[in-house]
Amino acid sequence: MNSSSVTALRYDPSGVMIRGKGLSPSDLERLAPRLQRARADVLADVESWRSGDKIPPEMQPLDAGFITMPVRLLEEYRETRATSQLQRILSVARKLSDAVDRVVVLGIGGSYLGGRALLEACCHPYYNELSRAERGGHPRMYFEGNNVDNDAIQGLIDLLGDKPTRDVADRWAMVVVSKSGQTLETALAFRALLPVLRGSCGDDPDLLASLVVPVTGQSGRLYEWAQSLGCQDIFPVPAGVGGRYSVLSAVGLMPAAILGLDIIKLLEGATAMNAHFREAPPGKNIVLDYVGVSHAMEQKRGATIRVLATWSKALEGLGMWYDQLLSESLGKQQQGATPLTVVNTRDLHSRGQQHQQGRRDKMITNLIVDAPCGDRLPVGASDFDQDELNALAAKTLPEVTDAAIAAANQAYADDHRPTADLHLPRLDEAALGQFFQMMMLATAVEGRLIGINPYGQPGVETYKKHMHANLNL
Ligand code: PA5
Repeated sequence: MNSSSVTALRYDPSGVMIRGKGLSPSDLERLAPRLQRARADVLADVESWRSGDKIPPEMQPLDAGFITMPVRLLEEYRETRATSQLQRILSVARKLSDAVDRVVVLGIGGSYLGGRALLEACCHPYYNELSRAERGGHPRMYFEGNNVDNDAIQGLIDLLGDKPTRDVADRWAMVVVSKSGQTLETALAFRALLPVLRGSCGDDPDLLASLVVPVTGQSGRLYEWAQSLGCQDIFPVPAGVGGRYSVLSAVGLMPAAILGLDIIKLLEGATAMNAHFREAPPGKNIVLDYVGVSHAMEQKRGATIRVLATWSKALEGLGMWYDQLLSESLGKQQQGATPLTVVNTRDLHSRGQQHQQGRRDKMITNLIVDAPCGDRLPVGASDFDQDELNALAAKTLPEVTDAAIAAANQAYADDHRPTADLHLPRLDEAALGQFFQMMMLATAVEGRLIGINPYGQPGVETYKKHMHANLNL
């Protein structure tokens, strides 16, 4: 990638070039015209969606709005700064940071996984344990409404408390995210927590209204509830943007801004990825190349399980976000690879055995961060050396991680098991913005490539329908 000042992600699929068990360069060359057609289809989807023309039934839903959303938000911010949506997000985040010390984000699926991924990837690993000053004055953050779990909600209620207080350290607020505004898990958590929040506001309706920030569609039950509470700031999940493609809308940007993350850089990362996706040819296009390798491995070698092997605990949330994106987008009509996130080296001591010697049905993509955020910790010398690690004294932990990555890849290669490496230059907003957009584009391209509509989730809707029926709703 060579667009703008954003340091680019790097994809190295050389570990799949294994005769008989992996791919050859000609496999990818043969696929190139189909990948280009799929890219053209995805870009044509944007035009169809933008034109406002009637979308033919077989193309519905057509939620291609996520592609141009980052640039639209940035343009609006640059042109009309004060009234722009990004400025409103930043102002509300500042207001909440001044008013409370804890924020609960309610939402499920695409309405929560992006926010959680951003917290885990970009904040201190023990963020919620830090003092307010160490958090830069930003609130702690909790995620709920992503399950029906009596004890988890009760535990959160115990923690938050409903006693009226003027002390910022004891105050809390809620961001409620639901595009449809009627997802049961989120709605139940909102119902459970609202009276608790009301209590902590001393029944002051204006204070309560300022501490509930809904992110939802332009109508629906949550929207109506927010209106009746008098919420001052309601943020949209834009039309034409599906839940799992919404991380770069207010859905993910609101939690990110509350955490003090640079949401402009996130969007700049995504727009750089868009430009690269549109312009670069197969072989030099990180989106098309990732799709090409993953798809060819599935078709030619039966690699129906896509392992995202993350090499940092901070990336687990990102992997969970990708798990949902891939499975809910392409797992239709008995197709779609199965995503599986692992965290290494942790999971080399559990799933690693199976990935190394089990069925040959896996394509392993390592997700590697090139530079740690903190100081490089030395292994260091010990006077006694009982563990006999003094030989490593001069090395740092990142060097040990590098050795582990090379060792795992070597072990796979020894057994003719294909791997690819995806590098994030750093764990920062620009890299995350690129990653989110890369994977959303890749999923849309693969959908068009295999003839699956990557938008909509009819299976999930069926579950929701039956659950409502079981509850006589
Ligand atoms: O990707 C999707 O569309 C889903 O995972 C939704 O995000 C999830 O079901 C939550 O829906 P809603 O935001 O309407 O509450």
